[in-house]
Amino acid sequence: MEKIRLGIIGCGGMGFHHARSLSKMKDVEIMAASDINPDNLKQFTEEFKTKHSFLDYTQILNIEEIEGVLICLPTFLHREVVIRSAAKGKHIFCEKPIAMNLRDADEMIKACQKNRVKFMMGFVRRFDNFWGKAREIIKGGLLGRPVIWHNIASSSGAPHSWYFDKEKGGGPLIDGAVHNYDFGHYTFGRVKRVFATTMRFKESISAIDTGSAIIKYESGDEHIISWSWGLPRGAFGARVTDIIGPRGGLLFPDCFNEKEIPQSIDQERYGVFLLSLKGEKKEWIKWEKNDMFFDELLHFVDCIREDREPCVTGEDGKKALEVGLAVLKSGETGSPVEI
Ligand SMILES: NC(=O)c1ccc[n+]([C@@H]2O[C@H](COP(=O)([O-])OP(=O)(O)OC[C@H]3O[C@@H](n4cnc5c(N)ncnc54)[C@H](O)[C@@H]3O)[C@@H](O)[C@H]2O)c1
Repeated sequence: MEKIRLGIIGCGGMGFHHARSLSKMKDVEIMAASDINPDNLKQFTEEFKTKHSFLDYTQILNIEEIEGVLICLPTFLHREVVIRSAAKGKHIFCEKPIAMNLRDADEMIKACQKNRVKFMMGFVRRFDNFWGKAREIIKGGLLGRPVIWHNIASSSGAPHSWYFDKEKGGGPLIDGAVHNYDFGHYTFGRVKRVFATTMRFKESISAIDTGSAIIKYESGDEHIISWSWGLPRGAFGARVTDIIGPRGGLLFPDCFNEKEIPQSIDQERYGVFLLSLKGEKKEWIKWEKNDMFFDELLHFVDCIREDREPCVTGEDGKKALEVGLAVLKSGETGSPVEI
């Protein structure tokens, strides 16, 4: 089979992570890499033996044989690189969030449409059997409808300062929670209204690092999220995730002790949810563990090879970003935001 040749733009955390998945695919070649940081680039090209490496990413776009690029840059840089890559006819896998504002997102989507290139967003949960099973349970009606999905999480946050800059990364309610907004939109449909309160624990940063939001969907379902990246390094808070509905509750693994899981379930191979129903009835629901990042990129490569549209697109990226921006706006104004 003819190899699909790809370029990686941005050789930081995600650039390396994705390259490790691609290296396991025998019909894929990471032909070129780019990073403005020469040390990152050197380390990357040594590990992945790329044929070409450039400090200036635009040189990747001039290589005819390269069919697609993975854009693994800090979020505020996605716009320019997506637009220039599309103009050169490269198919695009872009890490989430799509961009920092909706105008940029629109321009990126239009550039990909105009140049007839594929534009896949890195919403990796779409490829995770864990989230797939949760969605199947909700859609299958085991909990009844509407449901409320609760999610509380806190930490000291992401590894680089740009994540905490309101113009560059947007903080947890944009950068991290965008995965939740995408799962919500994918599972429940259109968002109707958002109400949020936000604050900043860390004084030295420009982004909001802490906030809570109620996201109401047209379907009647609801997502309640409370996230913080404001803790000092080494401190931690509780993680809570469940989904409740008129027929019962679904507890995620952060809500039960793994010692409770029946020994008959092979935990190397399976993860489990705990379903709790009327009359104190409990049921363990298992899902087979998979490498979601590998499966995500396999989909991108297959879409290029078979000329198919990716199942998760720039439009999905824009919809998720819209929710994150509404959360920040509601937090700032103290009023609900209609979407
Ligand atoms: N899907 C996920 O679960 C997930 C997880 C973490 C991060 N992300 C997203 O992935 C993206 C990258 O995050 P990261 O943690 O890898 O960031 P990072 O800071 O680790 O890496 C970014 C790299 O881009 C390089 N770079 C900056 N400007 C450049 C330019 N003009 N040309 C070439 N290289 C340039 C930097 O030197 C750095 O090596 C972000 O959008 C982030 O939100 C997604």
